[in-house]
Amino acid sequence: MKTLLLVLAGFLSLPATDGKIFERCEFAAVCKKNGLDDFRGYSLANWVCTAYFESRFNTRAVNFNRVDNSTDYGIFQINSRWWCNDGKTPRAKNACGINCSELQKDDIIAAITCAKRVVSDPAGMSAWVAWRNNCQGRDLSQWIKDCKLDMCGL
Ligand SMILES: *[C@@H]1O[C@H](CO)[C@@H](O)[C@H](O)[C@H]1NC(C)=O
Ligand SMILES: *[C@@H]1O[C@H](CO)[C@@H](O)[C@H](O)[C@H]1NC(C)=O
Repeated sequence: MKTLLLVLAGFLSLPATDGKIFERCEFAAVCKKNGLDDFRGYSLANWVCTAYFESRFNTRAVNFNRVDNSTDYGIFQINSRWWCNDGKTPRAKNACGINCSELQKDDIIAAITCAKRVVSDPAGMSAWVAWRNNCQGRDLSQWIKDCKLDMCGL
């Protein structure tokens, strides 16, 4: 019985640890539905490009920054020094007012809401190194190419 329970517990915890990797157009559609297209003047393609280079669209992406002992979380790799609370980052500000684990959910609404907060600072999308290095000032049309962005039910 004990063994069975352990096996069941392991099985049930799998979906939570696997996370979700979005398809490019699926991600674009969810972002559009939640108001990221042209948010603060940044077209939808900027968001798709940035998320690709930050996390490869993986909601569970986590990266530790040795420089300041902060951690980047989720599909937009939002940083715990400024934006969310993970209970272990020195001098953290938590400007989005959330637990960093919210940024790793398969449902990316919380991540989108926090990304809107991030881009509302004067730096805009420059807050994302991946945007500066891979998306800024480029032709980004390929990022939403062939996407059906007005589908219902998303
Ligand atoms: C990061 O954490 C290490 C180990 O706890 C510590 O020695 C170091 O001073 C910390 N660095 C910063 C910038 O907080
Ligand atoms: C964030 O949420 C996780 C999962 O619910 C929990 O284990 C953790 O203690 C929370 N962290 C903080 C800093 O509240």
